[in-house]
Amino acid sequence: MNHSADAKTAEEGLAAQNFDTPVDSTRATEIAMQNTLLTPRFYTTDFDELDSLNVEPVRAEWDLLIAQMKADPNKGHFKKNADWDHIDWDGMDPALKAEFIDFLISSCTAEFSGCVLYKEMKRRGKNPDVTGLFQLMARDEARHAGFINDALREAGIAVNLGFLTQAKKYTYFRPKFIYYATYLSEKIGYARYITIYRHLEANPDKRFHPIFKWFREWCNDEFSHGEAFALLMRTDPEITQSRMNRLWIKFFLTAVFSTMWVRDHQRPAFHEALGVDPAWYGQEVFRKTSDISRQVFPMVLDIDHPRWIPGLERLDRANRQIAAAKRQGGIGGKLKQWWGSARAGAAFLSLLTIPSIPNEVPETSRLEPAY
Ligand SMILES: [Fe+2]
Ligand SMILES: [Fe+2]
Repeated sequence: MNHSADAKTAEEGLAAQNFDTPVDSTRATEIAMQNTLLTPRFYTTDFDELDSLNVEPVRAEWDLLIAQMKADPNKGHFKKNADWDHIDWDGMDPALKAEFIDFLISSCTAEFSGCVLYKEMKRRGKNPDVTGLFQLMARDEARHAGFINDALREAGIAVNLGFLTQAKKYTYFRPKFIYYATYLSEKIGYARYITIYRHLEANPDKRFHPIFKWFREWCNDEFSHGEAFALLMRTDPEITQSRMNRLWIKFFLTAVFSTMWVRDHQRPAFHEALGVDPAWYGQEVFRKTSDISRQVFPMVLDIDHPRWIPGLERLDRANRQIAAAKRQGGIGGKLKQWWGSARAGAAFLSLLTIPSIPNEVPETSRLEPAY
């Protein structure tokens, strides 16, 4: 096995030559190891409960989706070819370079986090429907992470993914929280990749790195992963319809959207180079994700509410205050950190109290990538 792009399983991908080629990766791995509210995490869950799922209520849609994923239209796609233009890393504006590398490291960690969780589910489970699905998704995420690491390696760094698996802290989530969080991260991932892809299709002069050319096929993988989680949630109406779970869904929607907003606003040079206003990008991605999530969630967030953007901006300011206080250090820094966290909490609460818009979930959830 030579390249993770050709791997038929996650295990083959992890064993591929390009996967963990040692380079000077200490700093990249350090960044990937961080666990803050804003950085991608690794998850673990109650695998037995997940394994006990019964997909019969959605059998017809399920079989269709699995057949499509097994056909593997993106095999071999995640590999550099003639379209991969040369990058002048040394000539790149230093601020852009730093932010872009940070973007690649956090994307690689997020992709790999999916790979680790899905592979573990496949390993622990006995239910052939569940393990079959997770096997296919782990395969895709291994390819995605391997490809981003290929791009990083050209800049002389890469994330040591083998080390990360062993050493990064795992966060426990109950299965239903895994459904909400993972469904949303797959669909928001689709919306993010396709929005950038379409923007650069219209403005090719802003494409400062070839990896963006790969985003269309890439986002189709994320789209089908999201479809799979929509089906998993639809096996039991309780998961999305009970009063308590509706509150949880609203919480996850708000948390995922606002985290994306704050994280993107930390990368001004990156967005400027792409010719993208992060506020426009955020709203565009939220709108697409909301539209898609109508397939399974009983409500969407009101992102046109007068308190929405001001709330996100407050959260962003509080987050900057926390970061500055951390750099300051000492007792004064600690106090300012607490104060910043209190402000961030208040901003998040105010976002959470914006009334959501009820949604009538359709009979079948099946969607095609349409953007
Ligand atoms: Fe992925
Ligand atoms: Fe995915």
